[in-house]
Amino acid sequence: MIKIIKAKDYNEMSRKAANIISAQVIMKPDCVLGLATGSSPLGIYAQLIDWYKKGDLDFSQTKSVNLDEYRGLSHDNPQSYYYFMNENFFKHININPANTHVPNGMELNAQKACADHEAIIQELGGIDLQLLGLGNNGHIGFNEPGVAFEKETHCVHLTESTIRANSRFFEKLEDVPTQAYTMGIKSIMMAKKILIIVSGEGKSDIVKEAFFGPVIPQVPASILQMHPDVTLVADADALSKCTTLI
Ligand code: GLP
Repeated sequence: MIKIIKAKDYNEMSRKAANIISAQVIMKPDCVLGLATGSSPLGIYAQLIDWYKKGDLDFSQTKSVNLDEYRGLSHDNPQSYYYFMNENFFKHININPANTHVPNGMELNAQKACADHEAIIQELGGIDLQLLGLGNNGHIGFNEPGVAFEKETHCVHLTESTIRANSRFFEKLEDVPTQAYTMGIKSIMMAKKILIIVSGEGKSDIVKEAFFGPVIPQVPASILQMHPDVTLVADADALSKCTTLI
């Protein structure tokens, strides 16, 4: 059963979700956080940075693994998720950079890059809390519709719709990489707790499908209905098509 927390807007969604992450870090300072990129988590990271600066949070023992990375983008490429995480979160807090792990997009041997990432998750003892955004087509991480649920970290070809959606961060459409490394549905489902955040009217249909529709690979996020500890924090716009269901 998915726990649903309603927020009135993006800011409130971010604050509520940041509260859940901060509780995790306070309860278990050496926890393993599974982190996500995209526009959705930006407000959470800003809030956590703020609490860190006020002295309320300490990330010195915390470890992190990231969901995904574009294949072929170097660490200093502003579009890489490695760069995103440093700019928007890591460099502002006291997490040890050696304890942060984004899949290595510069490793072009896809099998090696993915096996290495999966091995890191195992070595860390698994993920305590996995943060997720929701793609417009129901993807989580870069697990696109139709991909088998049992996958671990693997290399994917991005769908046309994801390339188009993510092109807003690039100069032109052709600059968006067509492949990415992503934790698979299996790796995500192994996390002890999952926190998924969704904001905006544009995602209202997919929220309804993912959390109230059938569990099918065509809607990757629908598998979360089978996880024992999932919290969805969503704003009123994102939940606008579910009002009679919750
Ligand atoms: C990208 C990321 C996902 C993210 C999704 C939604 O494709 N790989 O991890 O959840 O986009 O992004 P946004 O939050 O910007 O809508």
